[in-house]
Amino acid sequence: MKNQHQSNPKQAAGERAAGLVEDGMVVGLGTGSTTAYAIKEIGRRVADGLDILGVPTSYQSAFLAAQNGIPLTTLDEHPELDIDIDGADQIAGFSVIKGGGAAHTREKIVALSSKTFVVVADESKCSDILSHPVPLEVLPFALKLAIKQVIKLGGKVELRMGVSKDGPVISDNGNFIMDADFGKIDDPASLGEKLSQCCGIVEHGIFTGVDAVYIGKKDGSVEIKEA
Ligand code: 5RP
Repeated sequence: MKNQHQSNPKQAAGERAAGLVEDGMVVGLGTGSTTAYAIKEIGRRVADGLDILGVPTSYQSAFLAAQNGIPLTTLDEHPELDIDIDGADQIAGFSVIKGGGAAHTREKIVALSSKTFVVVADESKCSDILSHPVPLEVLPFALKLAIKQVIKLGGKVELRMGVSKDGPVISDNGNFIMDADFGKIDDPASLGEKLSQCCGIVEHGIFTGVDAVYIGKKDGSVEIKEA
C-alpha cells in the first residue's frame, strides 16, 4: 500500500510528533512549514476532544493555531510547558540551528520553558556537523557593534533582507536579523556561549540539548532519535 506521506517527509515528521501531545498538556507551538503540519494535526485532535493549551512562538504559529481551533495561553500564565515541537534548519546529533523564519528568540524562550523539546524536520536537514549560517537577532541600535563582535568571532555576516518588503527583515520583536557564517562549527555550545556574550545580540539560533528529533523520510517513514 502506498504510504500517504510518501512525497511529504515534513508532513510525516510533524504529524507523528503531534501524537506526543496528551490531554491536559501545555504545548509549545514552533514556527515554520514542518511545525505547521504538527499544529494542524494538533488542531484536528482538539476538534476531536483533545484538551490542551498552546504557546505560540511567532505570529505565524499564533495565527495558524487560531485557524485550527487550538486555545492559546502565555508564558506568564503557564511558565512551564510539557512539550515544545519545533522545526530546524540544520540538525547534527541533538544540536540544531534555527531561525530560518526569524523566530528563534521566541522559539528558544519557549524551548527552554519546556520539559521536553522535540525537533521535527525532513532528512535534508541532517548533517554530521553544523555549518549552516547562524541567525542572530540584533537590536537595530547595536547593529554596527554586533557586526564587529561577530567578525571578531570569525563569522561572515549578512543582514537579512526582506522578500516582499524593502529593506531589512524585522523580527516579531522589532529587531534586525543577521546570518553569520562560521563554516564548520566544531563546538556549537561554545560558539553559542560566545554569541550570548555579544552586546546587542538579543539571541542566536544555536540550540543544544534537544530531547528528541523526528526525521521524516521520502518513503513516508519517520526516524525517531531520543537523547
Ligand atoms: C523559524 C525556524 C524554523 O523552525 C526553521 O526555519 C525550519 O523551517 P521549516 O520547517 O519551514 O523548514 O527556526 O525561525
